[in-house]
Amino acid sequence: MNSTERAAEHGPNPEQILQIGMGFWASKTLLSAVELELFTVLSDTELTGDDISTKLELHDRSRFDFLDALVALGVLQRAGSGPGAVYSNTPDTAIFLDKTSPAYLGGILEMANARLYGFWGSLTEALHTGQPQNEIKTGAPGLFEGIYTDPERLRVFLDGMQGIQLGAFNALCATLDLSAHGRFCDIGGGNGTLAAMVAAANPQLTGVTFDLPPVAPVAEANLARHGVADRVAVDIGDFFVDDFPPADVYFMGNILHDWSEAEKQTLLDKAYAGLPSGGVLVAIENVIDDDRRTNAFGLLMSLNMLIELPAGFDYTGAQFDRWARTAGFTRTEIRHLAGPTSAAIAHKG
Ligand SMILES: C[S@@+](CC[C@H](N)C(=O)[O-])C[C@H]1O[C@@H](n2cnc3c(N)ncnc32)[C@H](O)[C@@H]1O
Repeated sequence: MNSTERAAEHGPNPEQILQIGMGFWASKTLLSAVELELFTVLSDTELTGDDISTKLELHDRSRFDFLDALVALGVLQRAGSGPGAVYSNTPDTAIFLDKTSPAYLGGILEMANARLYGFWGSLTEALHTGQPQNEIKTGAPGLFEGIYTDPERLRVFLDGMQGIQLGAFNALCATLDLSAHGRFCDIGGGNGTLAAMVAAANPQLTGVTFDLPPVAPVAEANLARHGVADRVAVDIGDFFVDDFPPADVYFMGNILHDWSEAEKQTLLDKAYAGLPSGGVLVAIENVIDDDRRTNAFGLLMSLNMLIELPAGFDYTGAQFDRWARTAGFTRTEIRHLAGPTSAAIAHKG
């Protein structure tokens, strides 16, 4: 039921408007908890509000509202009430927001807190000017330029970025039949998580991740950790300058949306040129529904590209189909993976 139908049946209700309008309260409360490492302080333990306040240096005025708001938001547990109450992680925050957990994905939220939260404050300006509102605006190094120089920050960021996609990557590996193929390449493969999962799910495949030089050590370590380094190599290159490594299947996870339409077309043309007939390109992104009505996350991601990049934007399946056919692909399909994420697949006849 959409809001017009709801209003017709139940009368007007401002709840949704207020929830969205004040959504930044909840968002920033969680982001500050990640920044303060609350979920790591609570690793395998429970603490009183006073203990937490001492460790996190919380002011008397804020401590219980902060902690209990997180309880009410469902990202913290509390046993008891009043000053003797003890707080602990929920099962989800213990896995995903405790820095000592191997599945920690707070890196992406740390980035959101340190960068995007502020930059989105200039969304209205971006809407008027079409110009990025991030570091580029002040001449400082952009997201990648900044973190490429700091290997540990780069690792945390790439781990976080790929950590949040594990559900989509799992769904892709479970549904994509690659039995007819021998070799894959993940273009802009980041830390190699998708490549590792594809290799694990398809023992006959060998592959390569292809990314810029600073990413290579992160990918090498991750592939070794996944036990697939003997079948997945790390190749260094610039996807606008170098030919794509030859492969039967190309993956592009969150690559196309970074670029302008002409650059997207270049990447699709290069994928087509590198594939044999029968080859496949698989782009994994928050593909927007053709009617541009339902995938709110995909549409907001596209606004995030406006904030972050000179010309990037997210796209619909129909747009992907048009670009792929222009490159020479004979057929495309959109396969839903998880949440807002889909695989846009192009087949070379
Ligand atoms: C948004 S990340 C996506 C990473 C990964 N595919 C994923 O799905 O999480 C973009 C990746 O493209 C890489 N990249 C950016 N420009 C590149 C270029 N010109 N050539 C090769 N890789 C590039 C970045 O280093 C980064 O790893």
